[in-house]
Amino acid sequence: MRGHPTRNGVVTPYRRENCDPPYLHPDYVATRTRSPKRPLVPLAHTLSEVTGPVFGHQEVGDLDPDLTRQHGGEPLGERMILHGRVLDGEGRPVRGTLVELWQANAAGRYRHVVDRHPAPLDPNFSGAGRCLTDGEGGYRFVTVKPGAYPWGNHANAWRAAHIHLSLFGPAFATRVVTQMYFPGDPLFFQDPIFHSVRDPRDRERMICRFDLRETVPEWALAYEFDIVLRGRDATPVER
Ligand SMILES: [Fe+2]
Repeated sequence: MRGHPTRNGVVTPYRRENCDPPYLHPDYVATRTRSPKRPLVPLAHTLSEVTGPVFGHQEVGDLDPDLTRQHGGEPLGERMILHGRVLDGEGRPVRGTLVELWQANAAGRYRHVVDRHPAPLDPNFSGAGRCLTDGEGGYRFVTVKPGAYPWGNHANAWRAAHIHLSLFGPAFATRVVTQMYFPGDPLFFQDPIFHSVRDPRDRERMICRFDLRETVPEWALAYEFDIVLRGRDATPVER
C-alpha cells in the first residue's frame, strides 16, 4: 500500500478507490445538495499528500485516549473500552498512525454549538479523543457508550448510536473518515447514513464486535473494531 512516494522525482499516486457509498444517496437528505453535480476531475497527488503527515508520540497527550479522565469527575453513562487494529489493504498493521474519535455523550448530545437536542450536556465529557497505533497497529480508547439522537432528516429520524473516527494512514491521500456502530442496534433499519453503504456485507464492516476477552470485570465492557484503510475489505468511508 505504501509504495514509493516518488520515483525518479515523480510522485507515485495512491490508487483511487471506488465511490461507495455514493456521494448522492437521496434518502440522506443533505447529500441532495452537497453531492457533486458534475463528474469528478482527478487531480494528481502532490508530494506532501503521499509523504505526510508524520505524527510523533509527543503530539498525543496521556489523557487523550481516555475520554473518562479529561475532566474533574467521570462522565455519566455506560463506560466502555474500544480497541482494534488499523490495517492496510494487504492486512498489514499500520503503525504509528493517528486515530481520532468524536461522539455524542451518553444522552445523545454533542458538545457543539449547533447541537440543539434537548438532552443534557455532561460537564465531565467533551467527546473527543485521539491516540497513535502501536507496533501491531493497535489502538485503544476508554469512553462511554454514545446515545442515539434525533436529526431531522425525515419524520421521527434518529441516528443509530455511533462513534466517528478519522484515520490518516501513511499519508493524507489515504485518510479515512468513518462511523462505527454497535451490534444489534434497533435503529439501523431507518438510518439512511448507515444504509448509504449499499452492500450489507460492507455495512457489517462498520459494526464493532462485543469483546468479552477485553471486558474488564467490575469496570467496563469492551468492543473490538478493526479498521481497514484500503482494498476489498476496506472499512466504508463517510460521504
Ligand atoms: Fe454523529
